[in-house]
Amino acid sequence: MSIKVIKHPLIEHKMSLLRRNDTSSYQFRSLVKEISIFLTYEALRDLEMHEYQIDTWQGEITANKISGKKLSVVPILRAGLGMLNGVLEVIPSARVGVVGVYRDEKTLKPIEYYKKFNDDISDRNVLIIDPMLATGNSMNAVIEMLKNENCKKIKAICLVAAPEGVKNIQEKHADVELFTSALDDHLNENGYIIPGLGDAGDKIFGTK
Ligand code: URA
Repeated sequence: MSIKVIKHPLIEHKMSLLRRNDTSSYQFRSLVKEISIFLTYEALRDLEMHEYQIDTWQGEITANKISGKKLSVVPILRAGLGMLNGVLEVIPSARVGVVGVYRDEKTLKPIEYYKKFNDDISDRNVLIIDPMLATGNSMNAVIEMLKNENCKKIKAICLVAAPEGVKNIQEKHADVELFTSALDDHLNENGYIIPGLGDAGDKIFGTK
């Protein structure tokens, strides 16, 4: 897996607001959405294009339009849903497949409890979205589910990644590209990213 940490003053500024204790649930959701827009923009830099003719006020000119495989966005429940609106703002015609994976608090191993992919997902390029890449076990499980569906080109977008999770995915899925707005220091004994954001799902949904 290759990792790209997207460095940009707007992203770093918004990440600092996201990390603050006094950020409300409403602000947190808005920031997650805004950062997701920037990350999606970066993750799709290599979209295929083709030339076509368009009529303009100066007559006919050659312009570019996006071609190639269509996209499917796969949020990992539940925190991945917080990024979905931002991603779809950039690629409104993408399809959405949803995966529910939770991690067993003792073993930190992923348990799949829901899966609904688009019927033609094997023909699509896939963007997995999950704000926190901690152990990487859930991400690996979802990548494996997608590879079992015959998906060939898979990218992942997260807001904060831990080095341990990055290494875990790199060892198993060298072909997957990861885009993140931050690569933090380490995981604590409970599998939380330090400094991280705390429980991103709870902050997005205001459940704590
Ligand atoms: N999930 C979270 O929400 N936060 C972490 O730090 C790790 C996993």
